[in-house]
Amino acid sequence: MEIERVYAVYFSPTHGTRRYVEGLAARLGGEYEVIDLTRPAVRAREWVFGPKDLVIFGAPVYAGRLPEVPGGLLDRVRGDRTPAVFTVSYGNRDYDDALLEELDLCESRGFVGVAAAAWIAPHTFSDKLGAGRPDGSDEAAMDRFAALVREVLARDGLPPLAVKGDRPYKERKVSSVCPVGGEGCTGCGACAALCPVGAIDPARPRETDRAVCLGCLACVKSCPAGARAVPGDALPALRKRLEDSFLEPRKEPEWFLP
Ligand SMILES: Cc1cc2nc3c(=O)[nH]c(=O)nc-3n(C[C@H](O)[C@H](O)[C@H](O)COP(=O)(O)O)c2cc1C
Repeated sequence: MEIERVYAVYFSPTHGTRRYVEGLAARLGGEYEVIDLTRPAVRAREWVFGPKDLVIFGAPVYAGRLPEVPGGLLDRVRGDRTPAVFTVSYGNRDYDDALLEELDLCESRGFVGVAAAAWIAPHTFSDKLGAGRPDGSDEAAMDRFAALVREVLARDGLPPLAVKGDRPYKERKVSSVCPVGGEGCTGCGACAALCPVGAIDPARPRETDRAVCLGCLACVKSCPAGARAVPGDALPALRKRLEDSFLEPRKEPEWFLP
């Protein structure tokens, strides 16, 4: 299969997914173009790919599914028998049906699966789960995976790709985590500008639209005044549950080839 251009296409509020998708794109293309669907303005544009493009997709796992993004994660992305690599990143618990959901979504939009993989990244809600990932072992796994993808691309034709996961997918869970601005909020609006789903009104950045907020914590992690937090004990309680159950064993990357 002849590939002319490689694209890294991802949704990645806290950059864990991005590191894997760009790591793979660099290994597969040398030069590659980034389409960062985390930004609503980028999701609003039409993106059309052809049969000689290779698209590396990536999204984080939220409660075993893909994040539910207003307007749809890929509603304006279309392929034309475009070869694609599907990836998810998750925080050492599990990826459940997210990779399958991504495969179904992308294949329904004109992409053909070359390979798929689930990678481990720092968990949004814990500084212990997935800490330091990708590490040297993950980088070596990316080298091996990229070599396998190249072998698949060199073959004639692509048999169907199957990945872990069940249909119907796991029921969606609404996140109990929704940060707001506290006393130290200077009203600078940095949080509103980077919120991937527009849940923060720049005119009133101390408030967050609970119905839209994904709980991604991008606003908390990048507030210049350190003034955003999740009120109450929802976050510490969730963190404890996760760390008690999923700190061990260390999960390793898994991949699927046709
Ligand atoms: C709302 C929410 C739900 C999550 N659910 C899961 C999960 O089901 N399993 C898991 O292992 N990690 C889960 N995580 C952790 C993320 O999948 C992980 O931190 C991911 O790498 C974040 O991607 P990003 O850094 O590209 O934004 C969840 C994170 C959030 C914010």
